[in-house]
Amino acid sequence: MLTPNLHYAELKDSYLFARIAEKTAAYCEGHPGTYLLRMGIGDVSQPLCPAVIAALHEAVEDQAHKERFHGYLPECGAPFLRESIAAYYGKRGVAVAPEEVFVSGGASDELGHILDLFDPGAAALIPEPAYPAYVDANVMSGRRIAHLPTGRAQGFLPEPEAVPGAELIYLCSPNNPTGAVYTRAQLRQWVEYAHAHKACIIYDAAYEAYIRSAALPRSIFEIAGAETCAIEVNSFSKTAGFTGVRCSWVIVPRALMQDGISLHRLWKRRQATKYNGTSYIVQRGAAAVFTPAGQQQVQRDIDAYMENAVMIRDALEVSGVFSTGGTHAPYVWMQCPHGMRSWDCFDSLLKRFGIISAPGAGFGAQGEGWLRFSSFGSRETIEKAAKRLADMDWDAFAVFAGADVRL
Ligand code: MLT
Repeated sequence: MLTPNLHYAELKDSYLFARIAEKTAAYCEGHPGTYLLRMGIGDVSQPLCPAVIAALHEAVEDQAHKERFHGYLPECGAPFLRESIAAYYGKRGVAVAPEEVFVSGGASDELGHILDLFDPGAAALIPEPAYPAYVDANVMSGRRIAHLPTGRAQGFLPEPEAVPGAELIYLCSPNNPTGAVYTRAQLRQWVEYAHAHKACIIYDAAYEAYIRSAALPRSIFEIAGAETCAIEVNSFSKTAGFTGVRCSWVIVPRALMQDGISLHRLWKRRQATKYNGTSYIVQRGAAAVFTPAGQQQVQRDIDAYMENAVMIRDALEVSGVFSTGGTHAPYVWMQCPHGMRSWDCFDSLLKRFGIISAPGAGFGAQGEGWLRFSSFGSRETIEKAAKRLADMDWDAFAVFAGADVRL
């Protein structure tokens, strides 16, 4: 008899964003015509920028002509896109060679696929709260997980803590969901730790474009020595609105070795078998992001989302509830009032105010009692939501939600 992968039984019943979508759909069914303020999943609302659209159209046209048509492309990425990405790092003084860039179809996919490189016996170290795909991918593959808790007292930025056998370290900065950002000195500590413990850092840089200060690192490879202990995953989703188009990249440095074996070579080998390359059309669109016009246009969208984030933060401050994030990240992380549980807070915000958020408990046990707001909504949505949040009477809200309120 063929036994299915029983590790799936260890997963939560449903994935965070699927559960939010289910609850939202159920609410809509019962309340047809309700205008909901969607601040749950981090999905963009601005259309693709003109430079990308023009490149996509041109690439589609290429495919209509025999002499310009493209079939399979190199599985690790088209040279034109690998070069553009390497040059993007080069502009900030980070030396990345085009061959170290692996183009792929989505960062969330790659954060799980990357596990193919490591022995199943190596445990993962996941600072939490964390993007739930890290945990789920490790659970599915039967890998042990050491959960490294962090909270408000540490600014949601845990320091390295020796956990024997946990050699695969997931770091995300700017952090999803908390919006916290590591400084260079803090990242250096992790790089030193990885060297000392022969560990490998899987660095999720999907939100690096939201960092507003040149003093803060946007890539792990800004830290000397990271090229021998880290892999970086990045995405066009949040930077250039590619959530529906799908394109990402992974940097696996040539110098990255574990136990005398080149992880770069292994990843190249893995991709040759398991990935037939990203579509030509998508890669052309992605390359347009790095043109001067593309950079200017995506920056406008990023600025608009960050203005949204500031609006959310300000509204929460006016209403007297604690929040963090939203300064170098498109997420605002709010502490639920009166010790409310995340999903209770989510349900009440939906039912009373038509606001969809992301319950902190979905980002691990450390997120219980917190709520995440995404600033990727349209300006109209965020303005309406900010008004409702600013006017919020959290005491009355908590009473409505059945919380144990002691005024
Ligand atoms: C999120 O909302 O945390 C993510 O951006 C959704 C995703 O990319 O899977």
